[in-house]
Amino acid sequence: MAQAIERLLATPMINPRLPCMSVPFGGAISGAESGMSGISVGDFGQGPVGGIEYSKHQVRQHDGGFKLADDPFEIFGEWFAQAAESEPSDPNAMTLATADESGRPAARTVLLKAWDRDGFVFYGNLGSRKGRHLGGNAQAALLFYWKSQYRQIRIEGAVTPVSETQADAYFASRPRGSQLGAWASDQSQELASRELFEAKVSEAEARFQGPQIPRPEFWSGWRVTPDYFEFWQGQNFRLHDRLTFTKAATGWVPGRLYP
Ligand SMILES: Cc1cc2nc3c(=O)[nH]c(=O)nc-3n(C[C@H](O)[C@H](O)[C@H](O)COP(=O)(O)O)c2cc1C
Repeated sequence: MAQAIERLLATPMINPRLPCMSVPFGGAISGAESGMSGISVGDFGQGPVGGIEYSKHQVRQHDGGFKLADDPFEIFGEWFAQAAESEPSDPNAMTLATADESGRPAARTVLLKAWDRDGFVFYGNLGSRKGRHLGGNAQAALLFYWKSQYRQIRIEGAVTPVSETQADAYFASRPRGSQLGAWASDQSQELASRELFEAKVSEAEARFQGPQIPRPEFWSGWRVTPDYFEFWQGQNFRLHDRLTFTKAATGWVPGRLYP
């Protein structure tokens, strides 16, 4: 899979501080990995900024070289793995943008919990504002910004609920405190006081004393199935690289945008 992305024009000197690791493809995400690699914005885009011929399929690399990139999921996997090495926390944090039925948008951070070619999965309360938006307007945009990599990925697409089985399995994997919190929280509803919330957590603790806590029926997950990707690689002098992929009947159609 990773072979689909080949370096076409390698520079002999690869920045030794850049993370270098194998690319896991999709799957569930167990938790944030951390570890700063000491990368700063000044490390990026040190290759030539002009006079280079490159096709729609080539994405600029940190070392100034290029990679052939024809599969957006492959690029996502590679960039995500690199962000997991260099972000101080929560490399899987992403902005989720939704809109209500009138078109009014809202954005918030959620954690990516699984991804594969079928889409990008996150979880939350079905009655929350995002849940209500997605119930009436099942479209979303996701945004990852990894400062340590000077990179942004935009993903857009239709949203569908995950299966009950997948939601149950993910809920069961959560820490007990998070499970109780899910039961206690009427996410996004008006809360009269912090004390009331703490009392609801205590109620949930008293209600569920056995080892297993069932998933509340009002708590589940959503999958964004992408029909559009944009990979943004910051470069010096704001000559950034923007590579897009739009889904067509024939496959993913690459494009390039002015920065
Ligand atoms: C780092 C971070 C991760 C978060 N992860 C989630 C998440 O996975 N699911 C979730 O429902 N809310 C998550 N939140 C809280 C949301 O940002 C938001 O407050 C909540 O979902 C309610 O949003 P809504 O009223 O638009 O539905 C996270 C917040 C932060 C800052």
